[in-house]
Amino acid sequence: MNAQTSLDPPDWGRFRRQGHRMLDDLIDYLEHIRERPVWQPIPNDVRARFREPLPAGSTDLAAVHDEFMQSILPFATGNSHPGFMGWVHGGGNPDGMLAEMLAAGLNANLGGRDHVPVEVERQLVQWARELFGFPNDATGLFVTGTSMANMVALLVARYAALGAEVRRAGVADGAYNLRAYTSAAAHGCIAQAMDLAGIGTDGLREIPTDKRHAIEIDSLEKAIMNDRRGGLRPFFIVGTAGTVDIGAIDDLKALAAIARREGAWFHVDGAFGALGMLTPDIAPRLTGIEEADSLAFDFHKWGQVPYDAGFILVRDGALHRATFATPAAYLRREERGLAGGSPWFCDFGPDLSRGFRALKTWFTIKVHGASRIGAIISKTCELAQYMKRRIEACPELELLAPVQLNIVCFRYRCVDSDPINAAIVVDLHESGIAAPSTTVLDGQIAIRAAIVNHRTEASDIDAALAAIIKFGRERTEGRHSPRTSVQQAY
Ligand SMILES: Cc1ncc(COP(=O)(O)O)c(C=O)c1O
Repeated sequence: MNAQTSLDPPDWGRFRRQGHRMLDDLIDYLEHIRERPVWQPIPNDVRARFREPLPAGSTDLAAVHDEFMQSILPFATGNSHPGFMGWVHGGGNPDGMLAEMLAAGLNANLGGRDHVPVEVERQLVQWARELFGFPNDATGLFVTGTSMANMVALLVARYAALGAEVRRAGVADGAYNLRAYTSAAAHGCIAQAMDLAGIGTDGLREIPTDKRHAIEIDSLEKAIMNDRRGGLRPFFIVGTAGTVDIGAIDDLKALAAIARREGAWFHVDGAFGALGMLTPDIAPRLTGIEEADSLAFDFHKWGQVPYDAGFILVRDGALHRATFATPAAYLRREERGLAGGSPWFCDFGPDLSRGFRALKTWFTIKVHGASRIGAIISKTCELAQYMKRRIEACPELELLAPVQLNIVCFRYRCVDSDPINAAIVVDLHESGIAAPSTTVLDGQIAIRAAIVNHRTEASDIDAALAAIIKFGRERTEGRHSPRTSVQQAY
């Protein structure tokens, strides 16, 4: 009976040996990641392996692991690889990986109750308060990523603007005149949060940016004044600490002052940039972050914690709790026992079941220390400056935006620049040499290299640029042959 219904292995010794093999395989993967292609296209037969019907019967763990090694591991995103430079993806780290296994073993639910995993997350909240200069009664919690963290912040700001009634009556009556402000360079998840919060994207003003891609303070002031004149109510001002396209930082101090004057909520989207506080090179440029009413950021980007580890910090803990706490008989709190330890993390966000994201973050910070993570952040910015200098020195390449943090936007100079640069990036992905992404700046397609990974070195930048020039020449001279392999292109 037990053998059929328990999910525990019938032979723990065999399971242990298999478990060690699996661990070894992943350690080998990380140790030798540099020898692999960054990414490779998924062959049709591999894709087809994931279209099988629901398996009714069992399969040996070793066989499923073999399938993982053959069909999953080689075709992952590649963001652990030093040549990955696309979007804003962190590299993860081996210690965080082990911690994730420990967390899965504990199978803790951090929605609430009185157990030490909750204390670990509270420790992270305290470290975040300390790092960002928030008061001791500020509250925070892990969420999936900054998209969700921005959403949580907006919901608290909505509650602050409309009062407790909004939780019962919804937004129908009160939200039509609310206006939020962010720069035109802000991440799209802010507009999405406006949509999801029921305020609507029409309520979001996208303010133009200056030549450094930061929000134009004068234009913001004018927009607010016009809205006030029109009987509208400015309630939410978002500053970005590290825009997704080029890494620009808004003037957070000025935004904080405007928000205070206007009685509006000041939120900072610091998805990757906020952790710049860990290094003296960047921290002074984030001045004003300590005045935010809320701050969203990710440990899984510059913090190198394995996915996912988004975080939201809210200055007014009571308001934060009032926005989400929902009494229920089955969630009764006690003074003692496992149902103690109130408030619970489920009182501060929409999730009741919550995994132990805090553990991999705690391990990463404890093992490496905040200074080393700060040094990695500095190094990625130095590498971006190195890449910028190499681009400026190369007549075939052209820089398309100022390099302010760790992001470099540029293109291969040619006629028909947009399709050719888009194709160069695809060639690069398929070559396995490097994986930048693209963006559109002033209507032109740019190759965008966001250097986030702690493993990236100057030689990875050199390899990426050499391949871009090679593919650019091939494409413009009409001698492109698809799928240049890693070896060929090097
Ligand atoms: C500035 C900014 N905000 C928000 C996000 C969304 O973060 P996440 O992908 O963790 O939801 C990103 C992602 O890169 C970002 O750069």
